[in-house]
Amino acid sequence: MVTDILGQRIGMPICISPTALHNLAHPEAEIATCKAAAEMNTILIMSAASSKSIEDIAALRQTSIKWQLVYTWRDRGVTKDMIRRAEKAGFKAIVLSVDLPVLGVKRRLLKDGRQTILRTLQQSRNLYKYIGKDLQIGEGFPAELMTSSAGSTWEDITWIKTMTTLPVILKGIVTVEDAVLAAEHNVQGIIVSNHGGRQLDGVPATIDVLSDIVDAVGDKLEVYVDGGIRTGTDVLKALALGARAVFIGRPVLYGLACDGEEGVKSVLQILRDELRRAMALTGCSRISDISRDLLSQRDRWSKL
Ligand SMILES: Cc1cc2nc3c(=O)[nH]c(=O)nc-3n(C[C@H](O)[C@H](O)[C@H](O)COP(=O)(O)O)c2cc1C
Repeated sequence: MVTDILGQRIGMPICISPTALHNLAHPEAEIATCKAAAEMNTILIMSAASSKSIEDIAALRQTSIKWQLVYTWRDRGVTKDMIRRAEKAGFKAIVLSVDLPVLGVKRRLLKDGRQTILRTLQQSRNLYKYIGKDLQIGEGFPAELMTSSAGSTWEDITWIKTMTTLPVILKGIVTVEDAVLAAEHNVQGIIVSNHGGRQLDGVPATIDVLSDIVDAVGDKLEVYVDGGIRTGTDVLKALALGARAVFIGRPVLYGLACDGEEGVKSVLQILRDELRRAMALTGCSRISDISRDLLSQRDRWSKL
């Protein structure tokens, strides 16, 4: 079940995607999530808009692996400062979300939740130090904080790579073309992700694009996937298609809302146990035994 991610050993290939504002789910917020990740020996990606700050998490002195999510904010000083804070706190990688040049606002959110989200964002201990100074929270927040037009550019990736010695991962890749460009820009990993379907309706499901991306760049960088992973067999299929690990978003929030740290731990345990069972039933004793042969041979048959 153990897996090496960017040269570091973790307990299972099931990790935690960045999701904002964990205090909407539980008062202990990312503290609870981080403790659960540490107990399960897996990776937590902290959202830039986390309720608890990077420093709150560092103060826990958990030995687990933390990665920090950043955006290319319009004020690049914020991006740089957050990277420096993550480095100082001993985080192990920088993850850049590349699929949020503007906020893919949902109508329901506009109607019901916008004010709650805005109020809660103002309490983000992670963004707090920039708000009112470098960042303004207003009607367009957080979209207005992103670059004005197309979000991150490939020059931004080069800039981030020169600024930090930590591995850089791009989150939000769904095409082979972008995956190849990511490899050409020497990032260490990509997360095949469509932001959990929350940005743009009609984008491909990540599981459908995963194998083409792995075939194109899997020998140059590590490929991870998130989106809709809900069972151990979902994990098995993603690994069989070539993902080095999967990340989960909503299930962690559900666990957190139900029972804080214990709830998140339960979610991770359930997925780990289901993966273990699925591996046993498919004759895989190690993660490295999981290969594409496990999946349907339909395409091959149709060519006969
Ligand atoms: C409530 C919520 C908040 C999220 N916040 C962020 C965020 O701050 N940054 C980011 O890159 N992705 C964010 N995401 C997307 C997740 O990182 C991830 O891509 C997605 O949730 C994976 O799909 P899943 O929820 O089906 O597992 C968020 C998702 C949810 C559901």
